[in-house]
Amino acid sequence: MTSRTCLSIILAAGEGTRMKSSQAKVLHKIAGLPLVAHVAKASEAAGSDAVALVVGHGGDEVRKAAEGFAPRAEVVEQKERLGTAHAVLAARQAIARGYDDLLIMFGDTPLVEAESLAKARGMLADGAAVVVIGFRPPSPAGYGRLIERDGRLVAIREDKDCTDEERKIGFCNAGLMAISGKDALKLLDQVGNSNAKGEFYLTDIVEIADKAGLKVVATEASFESVLGINNRAELAEGEAIWQKRRRHRAMLEGATLIAPETVYFSHDTQIGADVTVEPSVWFGPGVKVADGAVIHAFSHLEGADVGPRAEVGPFARLRPGADLREKAKVGNFCEVKKATVEKGAKVNHLTYIGDARVGAGANIGAGTITCNYDGYSKFFTDIGEGAFVGSNTSLVAPIVIGARSYIASGSVITDEVPEDSLAFGRARQKTLPGKGKELRERFADAAAAKKKSAAE
Ligand code: UD1
Ligand code: CA
Repeated sequence: MTSRTCLSIILAAGEGTRMKSSQAKVLHKIAGLPLVAHVAKASEAAGSDAVALVVGHGGDEVRKAAEGFAPRAEVVEQKERLGTAHAVLAARQAIARGYDDLLIMFGDTPLVEAESLAKARGMLADGAAVVVIGFRPPSPAGYGRLIERDGRLVAIREDKDCTDEERKIGFCNAGLMAISGKDALKLLDQVGNSNAKGEFYLTDIVEIADKAGLKVVATEASFESVLGINNRAELAEGEAIWQKRRRHRAMLEGATLIAPETVYFSHDTQIGADVTVEPSVWFGPGVKVADGAVIHAFSHLEGADVGPRAEVGPFARLRPGADLREKAKVGNFCEVKKATVEKGAKVNHLTYIGDARVGAGANIGAGTITCNYDGYSKFFTDIGEGAFVGSNTSLVAPIVIGARSYIASGSVITDEVPEDSLAFGRARQKTLPGKGKELRERFADAAAAKKKSAAE
């Protein structure tokens, strides 16, 4: 990568009223990550050294959130919303520190690819003062048009300021720009606001630079990668594009997705090679799946580690802190939370394991429940290696089930079970021969008598 330094400026001062939300637009999420964080991530991947996030007046919510997703970002406030050039100048101090490259991005354009940004930076390195990222939308209405003359980009004309002739141009401004750091302030300070909207347009620097004899060029990005999110329908469209890309990457990296269009990844999902993911699987944040694991259909995973060649589902739920080691199995209608299922252990049917360790090779019978909560506190269940817990057992935590011990099915276990022992925690069975027949006769007679008296 280039040795040139780079400052990214992310504009996020808009109110986003079309989201119809109490939350700032750029904090709405795609793949579980705020829109603006996607932008910060792309800028980082394009090698930027510093990020300035421009928030609107009172943008405290965004400011606070930024600490989580972009801890290195400096947040600056644009007190009045006077246009995109004005917004960029809210970061004047950062620009004045002197970077070789500036990248200008919009906080609501989350699908931008690092490659496009890196390409634009490459064009700065080749001597351009301004690089505009253009695209060809299905309908250009509303976008700034790229005005080219003799193969040069000479201006960007905002839709409202276009002549009828200019309005026919299909090559539009995506809003993303790269500007050479040494020229940036000089260009930005010359932008005025005598236009249809009375705003300071960032796009005016194209004409200013061209007139000053500086080199201005355009590079083209795909429509999908520069999609701006303004309402919830576009948010869903953005999510779909993101998911499609992510699925593709998972497959190229060696995972088999049987019905990729039904699998949903999170921004941070890690999937190994030779993993199989069956249809309709949801990955929430914080999931790692190691090589050779199988995630069967209709499973929901969040904050979980799935070890090598482990198996999950169908219809399993792994909640935060679920840690499945090599070849562990968590089967249908099982929920695992904050628990380690060690090597080769099996939790196969209708079970809840929470705040627990299931030792290597242990077998947890159908319907077993760790009773981990008393309404106030959580308690730990420790199941030793090779233990066999019979079906429909309640393990009342805190509790220790010794290695290789055997729990009779239907037990309610409240006391420690030592290693290699057998524990029953249920009433002993009593069988009365012939008593079943006697009961039936008695009940039948009683019912007949009742029917007869009702008829009289
Ligand atoms: C802008 C471009 C236009 C381009 C289009 C692509 C300008 C003048 N026009 O138009 O050429 O085709 O994007 O979508 O740049 N913002 C601030 N502070 C402000 C004004 C804007 O932070 O004072 C932020 C907004 O939050 C938004 C972005 O800048 O994220 C773009 O602003 P917007 O007003 O939506 O510009 P457009 O009219 O869409
Ligand atoms: Ca816009």
